[in-house]
Amino acid sequence: MKKDLCSISDLTLEEICHLFSLSQQLKEKVKTGSLTKLKDKIVAIVFEKPSLRTRVTFETAIYSLGGNPIYLSPSDIGLGKRESVKDVAQNLSLWVSAIVARTFAHTTILELAQHANIPVINALSDLEHPCQVLADFLTILEIKGKIENSKIAWVGDGNNVCHSLLLGSAILGASLFVATPKGYEPNREIVNKSLALAKSSQAEIRFTNDPVEAVKNREFIYTDTWISMGEESQAEIKKPAFAGFQVNEKLLKNALPDYKVMHCLPAHRGEEITDEVLDGPHSIVLKQAENRLHIQRAILAELLK
Ligand code: CP
Ligand code: NVA
Repeated sequence: MKKDLCSISDLTLEEICHLFSLSQQLKEKVKTGSLTKLKDKIVAIVFEKPSLRTRVTFETAIYSLGGNPIYLSPSDIGLGKRESVKDVAQNLSLWVSAIVARTFAHTTILELAQHANIPVINALSDLEHPCQVLADFLTILEIKGKIENSKIAWVGDGNNVCHSLLLGSAILGASLFVATPKGYEPNREIVNKSLALAKSSQAEIRFTNDPVEAVKNREFIYTDTWISMGEESQAEIKKPAFAGFQVNEKLLKNALPDYKVMHCLPAHRGEEITDEVLDGPHSIVLKQAENRLHIQRAILAELLK
């Protein structure tokens, strides 16, 4: 594996499959309390944005491997403000074994990776959320037994999670139909990279501005907030553009009968998803959240071995 996990496309198909099987092995081994892969290792968790799942699952994964996390909140470091990203990366490299970073700009993740001589893991940037999507594909694999050709629909914003889902689908050979409102399509470079990767995996990647078209005969329906962290000031402009993109019972009538609903969380109930869908029998959102822990334990074990 590369030194860092900045993008899901830093991983090959084989490496992702290895992480899936390692996550299952570690899940069993952790029950015996015998994991020591991170013994005497400290991992810095550098976050510019809030988090529930990512922080708790990374800290728990680190402890369960015998290591210790140090959480550094936005006000602790002032990344790029109090001190340059380069200086932070070089200093942290003196004391800890890895950096798990959640940033606004994706370039901050890349800059940390460039100047740190320890692994840097992207725990969400404005461009990508690779750990989330690895957990999501692990979830699909557990439910379906395979990922190839699984029919996924993305309904909502062409955001960071959508970008990692595009790249991940392209690497893993899934079929992904992305529906976004006009003007909120995914990043062009990510789209082009996904289409290029899809050529070798035979993944089917399609785009539309019609949520009904995207959901038709799909097995996995995935949505996320319309207003990502850092976009709060755009809420009043963005929200009206997403009318018709709510994942509700009516939209889901178009999906396959045994469809599953996915959401990375946090959810904005009554906006991108209704209570009845999020809490209903087709929802697999808690399985996704649980798998964050298992896949991140494998990522840490692999990058820090
Ligand atoms: N899905 C996810 O990354 O959640 P948090 O923002 O709570 O970490
Ligand atoms: N797109 C969301 C994901 C949160 C986990 C955001 O960036 O806020």
